[in-house]
Parts: sequence; C-alpha cells; structure tokens
Amino acid sequence: MILPTDSVAIWTAATVVGLTAVLFALNSVASATIDPAEPPAIQPTIPFVGHLISMLTERGSWYRRLYKKSSLPIFTLPILNGKLYVMNSPALVQAAMRTPEISFDPFFAEFTNGMLGLNSRQAAVINNKKCMEELLQIIHTTLMGPPLHKVNVNALGYLAGELNKVPRDRSLQVANSFLWLRNHLTTATGVGLYGKNNPLADKAIDLLWTFNEGAISLSLGAPGFIFPRAVSARSGLNKRLNAYYAARHDEGDDVSDLIQKRAVKLREFGFQDEDWGEELILPWVGSTNTIPVSFWIFVHLFTNPDYLSRVRAEFEAILDRKEGPHGPVVSINVDHLESGKVEKTIPFLNAIWLEALRFYLHNVGIRRIMSDVSIKDGDGREYLLKKGVNIQWPPMVLHFLDSAWGTDAETFDPERFLNVPASVDKLRRGANVPFGGGKHLCPGRRFAMSEVLGLIGAVALGFDVKGLILPESRDPPVGHAPRVAVLHPGFKLSRRKGWEDVTFEFAG
Ligand code: HEM
Repeated sequence: MILPTDSVAIWTAATVVGLTAVLFALNSVASATIDPAEPPAIQPTIPFVGHLISMLTERGSWYRRLYKKSSLPIFTLPILNGKLYVMNSPALVQAAMRTPEISFDPFFAEFTNGMLGLNSRQAAVINNKKCMEELLQIIHTTLMGPPLHKVNVNALGYLAGELNKVPRDRSLQVANSFLWLRNHLTTATGVGLYGKNNPLADKAIDLLWTFNEGAISLSLGAPGFIFPRAVSARSGLNKRLNAYYAARHDEGDDVSDLIQKRAVKLREFGFQDEDWGEELILPWVGSTNTIPVSFWIFVHLFTNPDYLSRVRAEFEAILDRKEGPHGPVVSINVDHLESGKVEKTIPFLNAIWLEALRFYLHNVGIRRIMSDVSIKDGDGREYLLKKGVNIQWPPMVLHFLDSAWGTDAETFDPERFLNVPASVDKLRRGANVPFGGGKHLCPGRRFAMSEVLGLIGAVALGFDVKGLILPESRDPPVGHAPRVAVLHPGFKLSRRKGWEDVTFEFAG
C-alpha cells in the first residue's frame, strides 16, 4: 500500500525527473514557433508534453525511435512552449562543431552552479569569462605531452602497486567487478592528478559516486533537498578538497600540472581556502565515464578467450622482464600505452577500447544557438537554427548508423576498428562522438585511455579472471552517458601459471 507520505515522495521525485528532462532539452527563453527554413518538426502524440514523457520513459531508445520513424538528418521537437533541435547526420554534427554561433559556453555557468552548489565568491570567479577561458586552456594543454606522461606514470604506478598485492599462492574472490574497477581507477585518477596526498582516497571514493547519483539532476537545476545523499556527499568531498588546498598539497612535486596551474589561477582570481569544492568537477568528469567504459572492456575481454589471447600476445611483445631481488620484474613502458602509439603497440586492445566507447558511451552532445545561423548538411541542404534554442546530437543514433558502421552496427565487434580504409574512416567522422568534438573535445580522453588500457593489459598479462559473465545493458536515465549493466558480476582473481612471483611496474 502506498502511504500518503510515500505518494508525496513519488510525486516530488517524478516532478524533479520531469524538470530534469525539461532542463536537459530546453532553454526557457526559446519560442515554440517554427520557421519553414528551420528543421522539420516532429509533433508529439500528446500535445506539449508528449516528447517529454517519451524522453523520460524511453530514454535513449526515444532518440532511436524518432530517427527510425522519420529518417530525418535533423528535426525540431516542440516541447511545452519551447523547442529542441536534434541532429542525426554526421555532416551536420561536424558543421555544428565548427560553427562559433553554436556554443557550449552558456552551460558552464548553468551546470556548475547547480551541480557544485557554488557560494557567491566561487560563482563570481567561475562566471568570469577570462578566468573560465584560462582554466579551460590549462586543462587542454596539461592533459597532453610531457605533463600528461607524468600523470600516466603516477596513476599506472599506483595500479601496479595494487596488482602486486594480489596473493601469490591463492585466489581472491571479487564480489563485484564494477566496484573493483571503480575503486582502483578512482584512486589511480586521484593519485595521477593530486599526487600522494590524493584527497579522493578511501571513503572519498564512495562519496564521489554517491555525489554522482544526483550530480546531473543538480547540474540541471533540481533542488538539493531532493538529493540529500548526493548533497551530503558533496559536503564531505568539499571538506577534503579544502583541506588539501589549504595545506598547499597542490604545490607538491608529484602533483599534476593541471591541478597546480589551476590552483595558481584560481587563487589569482580570488579563491580562498573554503572555495575548493568547485574543483570537484575535475575528479567527477575524470571518473564517471572512464570507469563504466573500463567495466565494459573488462567483461568483454575476460569472457572471450580469443580476445584475451590476442591482448596477452600484444602485451607480451612490449614488456621488459628482468630479475629483481624478490623474483622477476615485468615492466611496461608507459610510452607504449600513450595516444598515437597504441595503434601500433596494442592495436587489438585499442580496438576493444574504441568499440566499447562506440557501443556503450552515449554522451548526448549539447549546445545552444547563440544567434540565428544556418548550417549545411553533406548534400548541400541548409537549415536555419534560431537563437536561444538548444541543439543535441545523440550517439545512440550516430554510433549505430548503417551508413557509417555497416549493417552489423548493433553487434559488438572490435575488428571494425582495425585496418580501417580512409574512405570508411571519412564516413565515421561526426558519427563517432564518445568524446564530443570541436573546441570542447574531451581533453581527458588520452589519460583515460592509457590508465584503463594499462590496468586491463596488466591484468590480462599476469592474472586469470574466472567466473565472469557478460551482462546485458540498458539505456541510462536522461542526461547520463554510459549504458547501465543489468548486473555487476563477480570473479575469481589469481596469478597466472608461470607468473606467480612476478612484480609489475610501469616505467616512465
Ligand atoms: C572514457 C572516458 C571519458 C569520456 C567518454 C569523456 C567524454 C567527454 C565528453 C563527451 C565531453 C563533452 C565534449 C563536447 O561537448 O564536445 C567531455 C568533456 C570534458 N572532459 Fe571528458 N570524458 C572522459 C574522460 C575524461 C577524463 C579522464 C577527464 C579529466 C581528467 C575529462 C575531462 C573533461 C573536461 C575538462 C571536459 C570539458 C572540456 C571543455 O569543455 O573544453 N574527461 N568529456
């Protein structure tokens, strides 16, 4: 029986979920009238709210259904008294990424204010255009080249240390593969970014993932009281971050350039010791996509003997082995795992990575039209886009287009990323967008790749993973990207025969 208080809670939750969908789709100032030069409209079955209800109930399959039904490269969806554009054509997605009038900028302030619960001083700093541009510039330049190498070496060094703790004479029963990967990779990301005084270790891992449960809804403007667990986790994380920066741990030699330079910049713009909760955005973006994709790679690899033997052979070809005081030391040079190298050093594991991103990571691209502008599709057809309207590109459509991926697009097959002819590669531009694109193309993509492939490669090399199954997946709720596993299987982890005494290391 539903008690009155339960029904109030259900209605409140439903209202918030509905509000989340509205905010994800609409800019409240956009008008509903549609010019004939705008993308054709798909009217909802139930006026005003039909698309909203479908977005909530059908999740990602809503985008797929509308595209299958209409085959339109772009359409306009009237919702309430506003409208939303959705692009399904790779050429249009590329055009949108190149067009300055189609911008992500307004979302920075809108999203971070709600998600991070900024105080007025933090908000003033973050809403300062110059400061925001300089902070983004720091992110984009410190997650590449030598500064990234340092992050990779520190993160992978931590992971090697964890693998070396696996007992040499017995197996470990891991109850939940997702949690196992989550805990190791969240800590590795923290060590890579923040150094040995990583504020996101131990209990903070649970806090980060509890915060994640409400983060998207909060970013879209949902009131904090609906997500008390997420808000309380955020306070706990804020305290840890404030203590880290107050102690000036950000100035340590093992800290990434990213954290160091942002701290200098934020202090310059007025941040004080109690303002560092804003920097929670970094570990949050750094973990919430990386860990789900690592899970999908892990379950595919360790349930497929053919994949596993290919990956083992790739890592056996790049490792160095020497005798140490406590037995053999197997060393993998981090250079081999970095962007631009993996296509040659570990091509098959790299192909699994790319296929897992295509198949499971569906970050809906979101931008706002800043002034009336036209964009052209590949066939020369032009569409007028009106100021103030939000526009989206859904990977759940783009990543499965027959025209880009072939008729087996619905099958998980890493082979599609091996020996790709230039003509096919060209067709996939704009259809393969796990990291977004244009000015905002994810700057963390190279770090995520090295960290995940290094961990999984080392496990494949030195360990047996038994009892794992490949679970089914379902679409995530509105605003979330990774497809959700219907269960998180456990497994038994033991050292491989002949590798019992090996110590692993990642060399810089
Ligand atoms: C598999 C892992 C990851 C995926 C799938 C992913 C995906 C994305 C996507 C889709 C965007 C939006 C791009 C756009 O709208 O065009 C983005 C932006 C961003 N990501 Fe990632 N990301 C991952 C890992 C990381 C990591 C590890 C970090 C940092 C340590 C990171 C930092 C960022 C930042 C700072 C932005 C905003 C960039 C800007 O607006 O200029 N990401 N990411």
